[in-house]
Amino acid sequence: MYSILYKAVSTCNLDKSEILYLLKTEENAKIFSAADKVRKEHVGDKVHLRALIEFSNYCKQNCLYCGLRRGNAKVTRYRLDPQEIINLAKKAAEYGYKTIVLQSGEDLYYTIDRMSKIISEIKKFDTAVTLSIGEKTFEEYKAYREAGADRYLLRIETTDEVLYDKLNPGMSLKNRMRCLEDIKRLGYEVGSGIMVGLPGQTIESIAKDIIYLKSIPVDMAGIGPFIYHPDTPIEKTEGNCFELALKVMAILRLLMPDINIPATTAMETLNPNGRLIALQCGANVVMPNATETAYRKHYEIYPGKICIGDSPKHCRFCIENKIKSINRNVAESKGYHRSNS
Ligand code: SAM
Ligand code: SF4
Ligand code: FES
Repeated sequence: MYSILYKAVSTCNLDKSEILYLLKTEENAKIFSAADKVRKEHVGDKVHLRALIEFSNYCKQNCLYCGLRRGNAKVTRYRLDPQEIINLAKKAAEYGYKTIVLQSGEDLYYTIDRMSKIISEIKKFDTAVTLSIGEKTFEEYKAYREAGADRYLLRIETTDEVLYDKLNPGMSLKNRMRCLEDIKRLGYEVGSGIMVGLPGQTIESIAKDIIYLKSIPVDMAGIGPFIYHPDTPIEKTEGNCFELALKVMAILRLLMPDINIPATTAMETLNPNGRLIALQCGANVVMPNATETAYRKHYEIYPGKICIGDSPKHCRFCIENKIKSINRNVAESKGYHRSNS
């Protein structure tokens, strides 16, 4: 155990069998503590906040795991007007956020023109802009980059092709990888990641996922536990994969010491202190919800999502207080990966 941790910390490289050893061991506390030290040494104690605006829950895709899938007729669909999105981003910038994350299902209403306008207007608030709006063509990614978008989040979800095909009807792992390559080529900071605990997912495939994320290499890696949604056709999983998700995150910190790693909302859904625990096991980013309260309950990717009844202002100050309670502080910079190194 110690020799693997020593190798990880001193070389930032582990082979698949060593990653598997860490994924299988029960000595998690040692991994978490090593990841926390690496985080402190390479990206410091500051926590970067990213304001998450969930601007549309319409989606043309049908991912088996997701509550927003087009086949879920129980969802009350909403989409925000471009001006509403811009106003929300302005408010978030006034609350001190330095990054605005625009997230949605794959909604065709937002054409290149509409989306580009939203991005360029938000850039006037002197914030970084991150997009998390799914699979697009090279031309679309290019237009959004030219409009001013700085970063793009697109989780690979799993690199197990058989599992990917089963969970993502009409989509392909190859195309998802193509999207990430395009995003990288266009000069975005690349955010990707996986879900941990998907039915049918193996520890071996998670080890391969980790190697894939390092090979890109990502600027940001978001690891979320899978949470079963009863209005989806996916097989129900038993047990809580919070600890395993935390471990995958900690291993990524060891292998990619200076990237941005969020303490994910899904972690806090499974554990009331999930985000603070994650911040002490390698994470350095939090993405508080900055969507108006009225819409939040309709963006139900999975049940039990935190902050459903809260306002953008409440979440902004709630998270800052939580961060201070572990003797960390909110960063004042935009938190680019490149400035971490
Ligand atoms: N549509 C875009 C996409 O898929 O990239 C962005 C929005 S999507 C809701 C954001 C992320 O939610 C996905 O990348 C996936 O990892 C996560 N997600 C979806 N269903 C989930 C579930 N049941 N449990 C945990 N995370 C889930
Ligand atoms: Fe749509 Fe994204 Fe949900 Fe898939 S994960 S159904 S693409 S919102
Ligand atoms: Fe939303 Fe605490 S961050 S209520």
